[in-house]
Formats: sequence, C-alpha cells, structure tokens
Amino acid sequence: MAEIYAVASGKGGVGKSTFVAGVSRELVIKGKKVLAVDCDIGLRSLDLMLGCSESTVFDWGDLILCRCDAEQAVIKGDADLLAAPREYSSEFTGEKLKKYIDSFAKEYDYIFLDAPAGIGTGFDIALTCAEKLIVLTTPDPVCARSCGRAVTEAEKRGIEDIKLVINMFEVKPAVKQKLFNLDRCIDETGAPLLGVIPLDRALTFSSVTGEEAGEFLPSTQAIIRISRRLTGERVPLVCE
Ligand SMILES: Nc1ncnc2c1ncn2[C@@H]1O[C@H](COP(=O)(O)OP(=O)(O)OP(=O)(O)O)[C@@H](O)[C@H]1O
Ligand SMILES: [Mg+2]
Repeated sequence: MAEIYAVASGKGGVGKSTFVAGVSRELVIKGKKVLAVDCDIGLRSLDLMLGCSESTVFDWGDLILCRCDAEQAVIKGDADLLAAPREYSSEFTGEKLKKYIDSFAKEYDYIFLDAPAGIGTGFDIALTCAEKLIVLTTPDPVCARSCGRAVTEAEKRGIEDIKLVINMFEVKPAVKQKLFNLDRCIDETGAPLLGVIPLDRALTFSSVTGEEAGEFLPSTQAIIRISRRLTGERVPLVCE
C-alpha cells in the first residue's frame, strides 16, 4: 500500500516539481514503485521533468471526466505519472481525484502529489488526496514564512506527518548573513527536517532534459539521502 505524500511550499519556484521528479527517480532506482501526480492545473511540468512529455496524451482530468480509463491516464516510465489537466474545470475536486488515488495506492509504494504554488485549488486537491506532507522552502525568509502558512493549513486539515526540505541551500558566508540558516528555517516553518538540497545549476539543467543531474553531484546525493530517509533508513544530515 502506497505512502501518499503531498509536496507543497506556499511560494512558487521553490523546487517542488524538481524534487518530486528527483526523489521519484531515486526511489525507483531503489526498486520502489512510484506514481507522481502533477496537481498544477494549466501549468504542468512533471511530464517534462520526468522526460515523458511526448507520451503524455491523457491526464487525471480526463480520468475524472470519463474520457479515458485508468490504464490510459497513467503514463508509464521509470516513475509513472498522472499529468495535470491543461485547463481548469469545476469537476476537478480533491474528493474526485482521491477516489482514483486510493485505488492506485494498492499498486504503488509511494505516491507524490506535486502541488502548485499557493494555497488555492491545486494545493487543496493535493492535500485532500494525501495522508502526509513534504514542504519545501529555500533559506529566503519570505519563502520560509509562506511555507509555514502551508504547514498551518495542512495541520488544520488533520495532516500530522509533515516534513521539511530546505532547497537551494548555500553555505557561502555572504549568503549566510542575508538568508536563514537551517535552524531559522525549521523554526519559521514549524516542521521537522527531512533533508537539505544545495543550490546546484546542474539540477536546473536536469529539470529541462528530464534526466538525472548526475549521480555524484551534491544535489543528486542530497536527493538520494532524502529518498533513503523516506524508506526508513537512518542517514546523517550533510550540508555541502
Ligand atoms: N537545488 C536547486 N538548485 C538550483 N536550481 C534548482 C534547484 N531546485 C530547483 N531548481 C530550479 O528552480 C526552478 C524552479 O523549480 P521547480 O519548477 O521545480 O519549482 P516549483 O516549486 O515546482 O515551481 P512552481 O511553484 O511554479 O510549481 C527550475 O528551473 C529548477 O530547475
Ligand atoms: Mg511545480
């Protein structure tokens, strides 16, 4: 039975989709069955980041609107994908998607629902379907505050298992003076730390090509450590 995670941040552009693509890929390498679900209606990106945009025909909106069956909607890849609808419909509710997610849960080890920026419809849909939450922030205080807001919203809905990933972290002294350190990020968001991913341009290129950034890069190593923690391994925290 799958562990079902929503991945959210509050602020946009924090690296949620890059994280979902990366962690899904690493869990598949570890032999897990993973379904990534893009909840960014109108602005989908996971198909590109997982390198399967060409084979993306149907999406979960088509499933809800009975334009395809479940087998057609799931795009098979290393990690499988349910793409986000291209256009919004009032039919797209968390309750309706949850019915399908719950039935997919029997076939997967992990399901990640990639929420869009903000705490609007897509966030609501992702949280309705999920039982756990991973929030992302960068060390930017504005970003950490909005991430804290996402945590509060999730707690109001009764989600108790919430973990924090700090992305685009830099240890350069000049940067450290201006941005939050790890402790401040944890305090501001109110969530326990799952991992820290360094700022790494190679990750940007990997999200464009849909391929892994390169096994030995610090950012990939950070994502690998997070994947191992998700599977219950005790892995020390490293901040490069
Ligand atoms: N650790 C990192 N280092 C450098 N660039 C990164 C890192 N993580 C993500 N990026 C880049 O930041 C940009 C935004 O990432 P992404 O689209 O994953 O963010 P998002 O939170 O999903 O955005 P949105 O809120 O719009 O859905 C992308 O160009 C991505 O490649
Ligand atoms: Mg995104």
